[in-house]
Amino acid sequence: MRRAGLAAAGLAVLAALAACGAPDGSQERDRAEEPARTEGATPGAGATVPVEADGSWSLRLADVSEGPAWPLPAGSPERFGLGTAAGAGRIAPWDRDVRPDGTGLPPGSGRAADGERVWIAKCSACHGPTGTEGPNDRLVGREPREGFPFGAEPRAGPRTVGNYWPYATTLFDYITRAMPQNVPGSLTADETYAVIAWILARNEIVADDVVMDASTLAAVRMPAAGRFVPDDRRGGPEVR
Ligand code: HEC
Repeated sequence: MRRAGLAAAGLAVLAALAACGAPDGSQERDRAEEPARTEGATPGAGATVPVEADGSWSLRLADVSEGPAWPLPAGSPERFGLGTAAGAGRIAPWDRDVRPDGTGLPPGSGRAADGERVWIAKCSACHGPTGTEGPNDRLVGREPREGFPFGAEPRAGPRTVGNYWPYATTLFDYITRAMPQNVPGSLTADETYAVIAWILARNEIVADDVVMDASTLAAVRMPAAGRFVPDDRRGGPEVR
């Protein structure tokens, strides 16, 4: 656990070294051998890296390797002084997983009417006043209502929440962590439920007056539910 976390953290140091024009192939080697990221890799979450009294931290070479696997220029410092500690308060806005079955949905609720206010203030600049205009992803639109051309025809029409998303619950997962893109993690749970109610109502998936909460959101069946299968192709051109 300790070694895995340090090796993952070591990549950041390698990237910094590469930017200075240091190593030579060792970076690719290290990335290929990188173990899956484990919890506790982040200073503050698992304290695998020593954090100074003022909250700063930096890796020592000895922390990431039994001995340097890459040559460092003579006179390199023992510490590079990169990064700051990610404390609980900085991790919390990103640590909000919601599964397709609704596990992880927080308390709170909202209606489409409230969601419209959130939408106009915080979403419409990028997704358009009605969710169709862009300039970024189009979120509203049900066409084509029959068939599902996207697998066989990668260029088929815009993919929207209405014609493509298999689960409504994962809208919460995505929006709460990633949107609005300029201030991700800033919406309250009520605002998130409300704006999801608005998006689903505009897609004609739920009624305008539904109260969206953990149980009503998990009960929504999306038009594209059941349209996705595990991709078990073995290199051939066929699409299921
Ligand atoms: C600053 C621009 C910006 C703002 C503001 C913004 N978005 Fe986005 N949104 C994007 C971009 C860009 C993407 C595509 C991101 C990607 O594909 O990685 C996106 C993608 C999405 C998606 C996924 C679409 C899909 O089908 O994959 C959803 C849902 C979404 N935004 C909802 C919202 C909501 C709700 C708000 C307001 C609370 C919001 N966005 C505000 C820029 C923005």
